[in-house]
Amino acid sequence: MRKKIALIGGGQIGQTLAMLAAQRELGDVVIYDIPEMESCVKGKALDLMEMAPCGNYDANVTGTSNLKDIAGADVVIVTAGVPRKPGMSREDLLAINIKTISEVAKGVKQHAPNAFCVIVTNPLDAMVYVFQKVSGLPPSKVVGQAGVLDTARWRAFIAMELNVSIEDVAGTVLGGHGPTMVPVPRLTTVGGVPLTDLLDKAAIDRIVERTKEAGTEIVKLLGRGSAFFSPAWASIVMAESYLKDKKRVLPCAAHCSGQYGVQGLFIGVPVRIGAGGVEKVYEISLNDAEKAMLAKTVEAVKATVAECKVEATA
Ligand code: 2OP
Repeated sequence: MRKKIALIGGGQIGQTLAMLAAQRELGDVVIYDIPEMESCVKGKALDLMEMAPCGNYDANVTGTSNLKDIAGADVVIVTAGVPRKPGMSREDLLAINIKTISEVAKGVKQHAPNAFCVIVTNPLDAMVYVFQKVSGLPPSKVVGQAGVLDTARWRAFIAMELNVSIEDVAGTVLGGHGPTMVPVPRLTTVGGVPLTDLLDKAAIDRIVERTKEAGTEIVKLLGRGSAFFSPAWASIVMAESYLKDKKRVLPCAAHCSGQYGVQGLFIGVPVRIGAGGVEKVYEISLNDAEKAMLAKTVEAVKATVAECKVEATA
């Protein structure tokens, strides 16, 4: 029997997710959106069914505004909520998106309580916290997509700078999904060569800053909405690792219970994703400067989470 992937939100990221999930035959796909968008998501789903003969994939893609249709989903990816406009920070979305995420969390708990849930809605680190608290789902089955995207951007900018294959750039970005995130040059390599042997400090600092502001750069360029191709692919990487028990080690906004001195918050750290969801949080030995940057990003996430004032249901 095919797996089932439920996409909560059929906007730019949702439609890209649907295409990637179908193309990669991860399972059947249900795109859920609010009643005003039902016709639109049904149209997108039908378009993807009609693309299948050219794309050579077997997957049923449907659109719905009835949350019951996500029943039994193996994976739920949540993109519902509003994106940033130029000049807005991710935190500016808090008041509006918290309501959406709280409703979605209750619905997922009711209809797909066994799903592995990937949250994409911003402000990411707070929304994944709210989703877990309101749904009461196990923290190992709730994870925020941010680190995979931020790391992809870090790797892309390094590959562009050095004119090398993206395949050979390995690294990680820790912390919150915002300007306090922590790309770690010391742990970044290009074909096994330390990044710090390939670029001088000024160049590395420039790429660090660009990575931190990469989402904002796209928001400015698009003029309307935020990035969608790269956030969608990043979420698919996580979903695929769960569905296929690949046990990939990926930086994700995961629940920390003491790791890195963080208690009860979701923060970007390297984790192993397999059939058990988030199966392990890896602790990296950081130097003092890295520890200080991580502490700063944790404080920023704490401040946003404190504004949420959610009541846990479990
Ligand atoms: C970004 O960084 C959408 O937050 C996402 O582009």
